[in-house]
Amino acid sequence: MEQYIIKGGLPLKGEVSIGGAKNAALGILAAAIMTDETVTIENVPNVRDTRVLLQAIEGIGAKVKYVYNNSVQINGGSICDKNVDYEYIKKIRASYYLLGALLGKYRESHVALPGGCNIGSRPIDQHIKGFRALGAEVDIAHGMICTKAEKLTGSHIYFDVVSVGATINLMMAACMAEGDTILENAAKEPHIVDVANFLNAMGANIKGAGTDVIRIKGVSRLHGTTYSIIPDQIEAGTFMFASAATGGDVVVKDVIPKHLESLSAKLIEVGCQVIEGDDWVRVIGAKELKCTNVKTLPYPGFPTDMQPQMSVVLALAKGSSMVTESIFENRFKYVDELNRMGGRIKVEGNTAYIEGVEVLTGAQLAAPDLRAGAALVIAALAADGVSEIEDIEYIQRGYEDFERKLQGLGAVIERTDSEREAQKFKLKIG
Ligand code: UD1
Repeated sequence: MEQYIIKGGLPLKGEVSIGGAKNAALGILAAAIMTDETVTIENVPNVRDTRVLLQAIEGIGAKVKYVYNNSVQINGGSICDKNVDYEYIKKIRASYYLLGALLGKYRESHVALPGGCNIGSRPIDQHIKGFRALGAEVDIAHGMICTKAEKLTGSHIYFDVVSVGATINLMMAACMAEGDTILENAAKEPHIVDVANFLNAMGANIKGAGTDVIRIKGVSRLHGTTYSIIPDQIEAGTFMFASAATGGDVVVKDVIPKHLESLSAKLIEVGCQVIEGDDWVRVIGAKELKCTNVKTLPYPGFPTDMQPQMSVVLALAKGSSMVTESIFENRFKYVDELNRMGGRIKVEGNTAYIEGVEVLTGAQLAAPDLRAGAALVIAALAADGVSEIEDIEYIQRGYEDFERKLQGLGAVIERTDSEREAQKFKLKIG
């Protein structure tokens, strides 16, 4: 069983380069099957989620070729099956992007229904409502969602909640519908803009992505293109917060600083220095971190995917902080683990009340989900002593070369996959 062994207490120092955005990649890889021509996608993060989605894409008959580590060619001309089975969807929810992509291209899709997930219940009613508004029949039976349409017709769709997934799925389906579609109350995340730019590069006509009203003129076919994915806002944020928690000095390179503004603002509030360049952000830790309050919100608000990492910083800040989670109801599972490290955090409803402590101490930990897992790594890097983190396959879903990048910043971290290796590393680090 793989685990991380971490010896904490050292400030992170140096430069780290950020890869392509996982959540943009998931939308873009699915959208790439919508043409019969070859599409080349660059800056694809080589993480478990993208690898599983590529397997699902191959599973329906498309051709997938890794040109080199972060560049992938997809040809959807040979798709013979419009069924995406549970094997993929249970590993990665975002396989449901193939619902919108296949529906747009073939007027038909069958995808296993995604189940609950360890950050809370995640309904897909807005996706279904949107597909129906375009004229598709949507049935749920035997654990599958099936969409079918004689004809897809543009429509005016008002989302009841701001949903990244529904916005992307509907952009894909509507861009090959007949006529005009307006998506209102759309999500505005940078990866929505990236998926829209990619579809436009394939010949779609989508305007307004990045605002809450997206206007789409349907086109009858899409063509091949070459496209490079934007940098990952959450990977960048994770390293920025790791610098803050360890009192470090880290330059996070190859990013779009504008996408990181809500994170930079919070780091400045807690006393860190944040210096921005054209494509880099430098975070210098504070002598003493200050408390503050945070509430997660859709972009441009503070991202829910950075909430656990923020809590780690606040667990080490002087005074009382409040962290309110307004997107997913079950995103505080890491709190018990932080408290086992000496944290003083109490959760009531959707709010964590944090009393800052001077030090956290190393402990045996288990990653409850992707971002909470990354947060525990940050906590372990900041803590006194050695921590062992299990269930790191969650972390590998979304971070490429995580431990290697941290080692490059001076962190004492090793991924081990046997008790013997773990013991050997622990002896080495004392
Ligand atoms: C995406 C991200 C995830 C991030 C989340 C919020 C991907 C692959 N994942 O997830 O990392 O944490 O955005 O930024 O991009 N909702 C409904 N009905 C729906 C759809 C959503 O009620 O049909 C609710 C959800 O329960 C949640 C909120 O809307 O409370 C936001 O969810 P959504 O933006 O759809 O998240 P995902 O796309 O699943």
